[in-house]
Amino acid sequence: MAIRNIVKFGDDILKKKSREVKKIDDRIICLLDDMRETLKLHNGVGLAAPQVGVLKRIAIVDTGDTILELINPEIICTEGEQTGAEGCLSFPGEYGLVTRPNIVKIRAMDRNGCMYEYTGEELTARAFCHEIEHLDGHLFSEHVTEWLEPEK
Ligand code: NI
Repeated sequence: MAIRNIVKFGDDILKKKSREVKKIDDRIICLLDDMRETLKLHNGVGLAAPQVGVLKRIAIVDTGDTILELINPEIICTEGEQTGAEGCLSFPGEYGLVTRPNIVKIRAMDRNGCMYEYTGEELTARAFCHEIEHLDGHLFSEHVTEWLEPEK
């Protein structure tokens, strides 16, 4: 496993659409392992493959209990609304208020190629929306209604 460099805001790769994963090979497994290690190092909640320079539809989300691996994820349904502080490892130290659904159900594939569904609430729901958007070249900054003062 290895730590990967995180692409920062301003790099065009973050605005590109990622491609569907057709086959889970050793490179994908290695990418997932590296993304886990990179997320852990930065104490992040989620990380999408384009953030490490790979335009594939892959993201990981730490639910607090486990780290979910999302390959070709899709949002199936959403419910409610929450407004809170959101950040991104590609925008170090920057946080803004973003409104998201409070409950988000996704369908995705794991590293074994098995499809699963998962219903996330609150922070996990927020992370699902945030990470899946990265795969379409969209960033949380597009939704920020108010930028927050950096913590001293
Ligand atoms: Ni992000």
